[in-house]
Amino acid sequence: MQHLKQKVVVITGGGSGMGQQAARLCAEAGAVVALIDVNEAGMQATCAMHDNIHAFSADITDFNAVSGAVTSIESDLGPVFRVYNCAAIMPFGKLIEQDNATAHKIMDINYGGLLNLSQAVLPGMVSRGAGEFISFASMAGIIPTMVTGAYSASKAAVAFFTEILYHENIDSGVKFACVCPPPVDTPLLDQGRSTHWPKMLEAGPNPIKPEEMINAIEAHLAADKFWVFHGKGAKVGPLMRRLAPGLIWKQCHDVEGF
Ligand SMILES: NC(=O)c1ccc[n+]([C@@H]2O[C@H](COP(=O)([O-])OP(=O)(O)OC[C@H]3O[C@@H](n4cnc5c(N)ncnc54)[C@H](O)[C@@H]3O)[C@@H](O)[C@H]2O)c1
Repeated sequence: MQHLKQKVVVITGGGSGMGQQAARLCAEAGAVVALIDVNEAGMQATCAMHDNIHAFSADITDFNAVSGAVTSIESDLGPVFRVYNCAAIMPFGKLIEQDNATAHKIMDINYGGLLNLSQAVLPGMVSRGAGEFISFASMAGIIPTMVTGAYSASKAAVAFFTEILYHENIDSGVKFACVCPPPVDTPLLDQGRSTHWPKMLEAGPNPIKPEEMINAIEAHLAADKFWVFHGKGAKVGPLMRRLAPGLIWKQCHDVEGF
């Protein structure tokens, strides 16, 4: 992470979980970190980890607020070099039962937020011909399970959006990465657990630590890898999804019991 020294790193969702750990690690590597979040207490806790971390409150679903935050970050701290798109929510539920407004909100934050930040920050990064743009999809957006439908759809949208963004800007000098984590031990999991937690997730491996995932992203970026899969089953799962989706669905029905 040496190349981040004195570079500006923007982290949406930097008030919690993986965004918080990314902020700490980037600041320790000498970067100047700007958080964008609605979680004021979480941002204060992240800022307390290092003098080089700064909070910029904005709701990621509000394009004007996000553009305003990027303008303030660039005038206060300098041109943005790296972006982590971490902001997300994850309430679960069966698709025809989940509250309609909640299902829309999942797509607005998880996908719409990425769209907003991309349009606010990438024109500058592309015109400077340098930078690193990291999206957070999920294994849930690659391998389907039941009761995670709205979240999984939002993460599949993130993966597709980021893949096309990467190819549209392939010669721009900006690196892109699409991260598809397995379950990671962060407060996000409580949102799933307090709504409708799939038995498939209970049967799966224990969540990994956020630092482990952030370090894996760094290793993939250094190796110029666009897709970031990490953890147990990270390689086999996507392959099975492509070659034998019926087996995945059979296991889902067997485990969930419907
Ligand atoms: N934790 C996991 O198991 C896991 C697995 C796969 C993918 N992911 C993805 O990784 C990313 C980081 O997840 P995490 O586990 O660190 O989550 P987290 O819940 O710990 O943090 C998410 C942050 O996003 C912020 N946020 C929510 N709505 C917002 C809004 N409208 N505007 C601005 N900020 C908002 C929250 O306030 C919070 O601080 C997410 O995109 C998530 O979907 C997480």
